[in-house]
Amino acid sequence: MSPLTLLYTPASPFARKVRMAALERRIKLELLDTHVSPILSNPELAKVNPLVKVPVLISPDGPIYDNRVICRYLDRLGEGPSLYASEVAERWSIATLEALSDGVMDAAVLLRYELGVRPEELRWKQWVDIQFSRILGVLEQVEKITDSLVGLHIGSLGLAAALSYLDFRHPALPWRENHPRLSAWLADFEEHEIMKNTRYPQV
Ligand code: BEZ
Repeated sequence: MSPLTLLYTPASPFARKVRMAALERRIKLELLDTHVSPILSNPELAKVNPLVKVPVLISPDGPIYDNRVICRYLDRLGEGPSLYASEVAERWSIATLEALSDGVMDAAVLLRYELGVRPEELRWKQWVDIQFSRILGVLEQVEKITDSLVGLHIGSLGLAAALSYLDFRHPALPWRENHPRLSAWLADFEEHEIMKNTRYPQV
């Protein structure tokens, strides 16, 4: 099969999760660095995804998005154990962890735009505070189940992409202080090749 093309940007946690999934499933992706902005369009990207978001997978079945759909698509093609559990109870807990991790990424990316792009005089503190409190609410819940976070699956990949994005874009958020198990979990997870080979850019 000829390589699939992924439209991505190196700073996107959603694209990082997809790249991690592809590496774990041993699927070669051609990476096409694609400009995205919260305030400008990108007509080329809009042709393949009307939401004008990355990641987009250009596949023989047409353009595929969002990250969750791409990960499922790649999982079907890949080699070795699936990133999705076959056992029913485990399947739903992993899928729910994936949803929580995507929610952390959503909030963290919106905060990045609010705090890094929006003019300071237009910022909305109450909105900022509620987004951070939702992120911390997720971490509080996941901290309690950290001992069960074993192995590489779509939930753990998403969580690692989300937590490391917090370190990348919100380094002042002291999330590690109150979540020592998650902090230790991420330190271990960072040792996987799929993390080392998909690092966020240096700022
Ligand atoms: C970022 O610069 O943090 C970013 C860029 C694109 C998508 C998501 C995040």
